[in-house]
Amino acid sequence: MELSTLFPPDVVIVNATDEMWTTPLCREEEKLIEGSVAKRQSEFRAGRNAAHAALRRLDAPPGPLLRNEDRQPVWPQGFLGSISHCNDSCVAACAVAGDLVSIGVDVEPLKPLSTGVARYIDTDEESAFMARHGELPRRLIFSAKESLYKCYYPLIRRFFGFHSVSLDIDISNRQFIFTPTETCKVAFPQALEFHGRFLVWEDHLYTGCFLTAVDSVTD
Ligand SMILES: CC(C)(COP(=O)(O)OP(=O)(O)OC[C@H]1O[C@@H](n2cnc3c(N)ncnc32)[C@H](O)[C@@H]1OP(=O)(O)O)[C@@H](O)C(=O)NCCC(=O)NCCS
Repeated sequence: MELSTLFPPDVVIVNATDEMWTTPLCREEEKLIEGSVAKRQSEFRAGRNAAHAALRRLDAPPGPLLRNEDRQPVWPQGFLGSISHCNDSCVAACAVAGDLVSIGVDVEPLKPLSTGVARYIDTDEESAFMARHGELPRRLIFSAKESLYKCYYPLIRRFFGFHSVSLDIDISNRQFIFTPTETCKVAFPQALEFHGRFLVWEDHLYTGCFLTAVDSVTD
């Protein structure tokens, strides 16, 4: 199964190459990681270099990808995207804005979270579901909620925690949807349709979320 199946075909997803982790960025981007530890500098370079590669394939105008006060990357006008990195993998997914309104991506190692952390992430129903399905990647709920957050944050612009939503996983189609929980303090835009997908590919778990206008068609 290909990484590209995480999103509709008009999304370009780039898995950072080895060189992307070390290739220096432009002056404005390098300034954003001045004084950061080496690990942060290399993951940031991987993410920005992968995003530039994706945007080039979409014929986006070249230029630095800065970030706003919420740490979100500032995409060129008319484009959208999302970046994720873990210790040994990094992806950037980008698209032309239009029918696609927002996207979020996440990559995780195929390792369990500690029980303490999992309790902070999973609702009781999600814990019970994961306990029944030992075949699923252990970080699935965590990763799905991280990509969901990145997808909605640009629209909601407010923090919301892991127990704000409860996920329903469709194992055979590698998809998920969500329902806001009683403790949810944000309003998810109703006029947009949510899509969540997951994929295990080359030793990592990937999740991707995207929002479309309600009647638009996606593959
Ligand atoms: C924002 C967050 C999801 C990022 O995840 P992370 O663990 O730092 O790691 P990732 O590598 O997957 O993602 C980092 C990238 O996300 C992007 N990002 C950061 N903040 C963002 C935001 N508010 N909105 C969208 N994207 C954001 C950036 O591109 C960042 O990489 P960069 O700094 O190199 O550009 C995480 O820090 C966070 O705040 N989580 C708590 C909120 C949450 O997930 N709630 C669950 C709701 S159900």
